[in-house]
Amino acid sequence: MRTIYLNGNYIPETEGKISVFDRGFLFSDAVYEVVSVLDGKLVDFNGHVQRLARSLSETGISGAPDTSSWLEICRALVSRNAVEEGMIYWQVTRGAPQDRDFVFPPADTPPTVLAFTQSRALADNPSAQRGLRVVTMPDLRWGRADIKTTQLLYASLMKNEAIARGADDVWMERDGWITEGSAQNAHIITTEGVLVTHPLNREILHGITRAAVLPLVAQQIEERRFSVNEAEQAAEAFVSSASGFVMPVVQINGHVIGNGTPGSATVQLRQAYIGWARHTAI
Ligand code: PDD
Repeated sequence: MRTIYLNGNYIPETEGKISVFDRGFLFSDAVYEVVSVLDGKLVDFNGHVQRLARSLSETGISGAPDTSSWLEICRALVSRNAVEEGMIYWQVTRGAPQDRDFVFPPADTPPTVLAFTQSRALADNPSAQRGLRVVTMPDLRWGRADIKTTQLLYASLMKNEAIARGADDVWMERDGWITEGSAQNAHIITTEGVLVTHPLNREILHGITRAAVLPLVAQQIEERRFSVNEAEQAAEAFVSSASGFVMPVVQINGHVIGNGTPGSATVQLRQAYIGWARHTAI
């Protein structure tokens, strides 16, 4: 049985108890991070802790652990659960007041802080060999996709709709422009060999993997929007995320990308990223 971290305690996963009035439960008033583990070490820990700090400050949630406490929590969980490869999930909610109320609880209400591990093969992922088939759907999420909140219902609905349609995942679009995947940033490489990726604004999550991958790219990079049509005609396509690293996309709305197998630049980039991640993990 896993050991999880909840509000300062390391406990068996079955013993974690949270109030029914917790703001995370009633309002999705919570932010989170997913950090990958390779060789028992944390990948891009600083990037994730910094983004969590930004999500906390944008939502005004206070009282979360500081950087050194997060490091201690992560290392304790990795060690207690003997995680060689997988993820650590962190969540901070605005805490549990005495009742349901749209108004925030008093500022001294402690946040609820949860962390748990998931052991899983990440580097040897069969999907990376096969590549993903994605379908596009309207991006109807709220206007602050740059904050990593636990309001994941729309993304989850769309991912399940994509699977029901025989695909693996969704790429969301606003007015015909691709924003991002259900839980990944979306990128294409054009037939001219240019890597195109959505600019960092409020429409997408500012991916920690995206930020680490871009400096490893050999191609010219354009940070601009790209349309559904441009994506369907791309030479290569891929997604990036903490849990998937660099994951090839081989079909968009039934249009075969390249020759239908992971593109060579994407495969190289996945290897380069995994090499970088292993080398810099702490
Ligand atoms: N998802 N876009 C969205 C909407 C995401 O949820 C994620 C991450 C990303 C990629 O960000 P990063 O490279 O920092 O993981 C982009 C995580 C993995 C999840 O929800 O499981």
